Amino acid sequence: MEKAMHLMRLAELLVVCAACAGVAGRACAQGAPVYTPDGRLERPAQYRDWIFLSSGLDMSYNPAAMAMGHSMFDNVFAEAGAYRAFLQTGHWPDKTILVTEMREAADKASINRHGHFQAGSVMALEVHVRDTARFAGGWGFFGFESDAPATLIPASADCYACHRAHAAVDTTFVQFYPTLLPVAERFKTLSDAYLRER
Ligand code: HEC
Repeated sequence: MEKAMHLMRLAELLVVCAACAGVAGRACAQGAPVYTPDGRLERPAQYRDWIFLSSGLDMSYNPAAMAMGHSMFDNVFAEAGAYRAFLQTGHWPDKTILVTEMREAADKASINRHGHFQAGSVMALEVHVRDTARFAGGWGFFGFESDAPATLIPASADCYACHRAHAAVDTTFVQFYPTLLPVAERFKTLSDAYLRER
């Protein structure tokens, strides 16, 4: 019986691997990050099929940011396997990929008279990857402005400092992801930094 279970698990894994091989070099729809031989991250090709966590409109800690003149939405997505693991543990597993997609906000088109909607194409992608074997501190940040693979943002960048200092779970901003915050509350996985600020 146990052997049959193992074989079934093995068969599942083979299906997953075959699916990954099919996207040849691109980040796999099944979830693991894919790197070039020199350590750059491939752009996650399938993130629009992942789990939607939240949108922010013009979010900023910087009071001067509103002076920029244009409004932006950010849409956050989690790879589906990592999302399910989060629901079961309140933590992100190793190899988690989270994507923030930036899109310009617009207010006048078609029948719209009030409020904002998301216009046009993707302006940029930011990616947060948990890979404990690869990154000091366990997580790495990458920024994409095209389809080309992205180099790791250095650990001295303010991305790491802000996420470490203010994010609610595992250096990710779960306090802004409404389906996940109650999960983290239940599993008591909220960071000390976040609990102090709250
Ligand atoms: C001053 C604080 C701050 C800095 C600096 C910052 N972020 Fe974030 N980041 C946030 C907040 C707040 C969110 C939640 C966004 C939302 O709810 O839409 C976030 C969310 C994210 C996410 C979604 C996954 C997660 O970890 O929650 C990614 C990816 C991300 N940031 C990448 C970056 C990158 C790359 C940089 C540096 C170039 C950066 N961030 C710098 C505050 C910051």
